[in-house]
Amino acid sequence: MSATAGATKFLLWLLLLSTSSSSPSCSASELDITCLKTVKQSVVDPNGILESSWNFDNATNGFICWFTGVECWGRRVHALNLSSLGLEGQFPQGLEYCTALFRLDLSNNKFSGPIPWNIAQQAAYLTSLDLSYNSFSGEIPIGICRDLNVLNIQHNQLSGQIPRDFDELLRLTSLSVADNQLFGLIPSSLSKFPASSFSGNQGLCGPPLGDCANTNESSLIWYIIDDMIKDDFIVVGAAAGFVVGFVAAFYFPHLFVFSQKLHPYVYRIC
Ligand SMILES: *[C@@H]1O[C@H](CO)[C@@H](O)[C@H](O)[C@H]1NC(C)=O
Ligand SMILES: *[C@@H]1O[C@H](CO)[C@@H](O)[C@H](O)[C@H]1NC(C)=O
Ligand SMILES: *[C@@H]1O[C@H](CO)[C@@H](O)[C@H](O)[C@H]1NC(C)=O
Repeated sequence: MSATAGATKFLLWLLLLSTSSSSPSCSASELDITCLKTVKQSVVDPNGILESSWNFDNATNGFICWFTGVECWGRRVHALNLSSLGLEGQFPQGLEYCTALFRLDLSNNKFSGPIPWNIAQQAAYLTSLDLSYNSFSGEIPIGICRDLNVLNIQHNQLSGQIPRDFDELLRLTSLSVADNQLFGLIPSSLSKFPASSFSGNQGLCGPPLGDCANTNESSLIWYIIDDMIKDDFIVVGAAAGFVVGFVAAFYFPHLFVFSQKLHPYVYRIC
């Protein structure tokens, strides 16, 4: 009795094993198709490049690997290079279905809006991410993909600080955040990159750029305020705000007279 039960179990196990080892390659490329269909639907394509090249009707084996900007490795979508195609709209959707995606290049388009906060979950294995020369705005998401070797996000409208967890991007060999609206201290592990990687951001300071003491006063105050808001310091900040506000108003009275931007924050903290 138990011998048959054991045999049945074994057979079931074999069956499971065989189905699970044969189905991924099939469903995996179907996932890639879902990925590309969703990407195509979610972006604005004024030049009709995806419209004409990304044709999902011809379903020959590995057909998606012939699409403009799609690079495969063993029939899996390995890289998506949509650079300079005149694309518009928000950050493309559906990338979470491209489960073998290692490189993503959206550079030189007109994409706008935020970089998704969960980009690390959407594209978990990225080693190369190029979003440069677009109009992405908002803050750089925290917990950006850990395995990145290349990160190019220069020439956008990104604001806020460089997240401190950039210190954990140990494999980074190429980085540019130049020409954005970033401010605050550059995470220490990034000081090995050239100053040109950070240029064009009025409020960034610390190596390889200049000393924070020499940065523009208004940027520095922004940095302090942003830090307090981010660390949920609003309550404690009410007290600290008095001190900061008092000191700042004492030393830089012109900021409070001329900087419209500061008024709501000063009001909020004090
Ligand atoms: C399907 O795509 C393949 C590869 O691009 C091409 O050789 C073939 O002619 C296409 N078939 C049709 C019916 O469009
Ligand atoms: C994407 O293609 C452009 C040329 O169209 C090339 O310059 C760039 O290096 C490519 N990006 C990647 C990540 O291969
Ligand atoms: C500081 O920044 C303001 C605008 O943000 C600018 O007008 C001013 O010239 C800057 N000052 C210095 C010393 O760079």
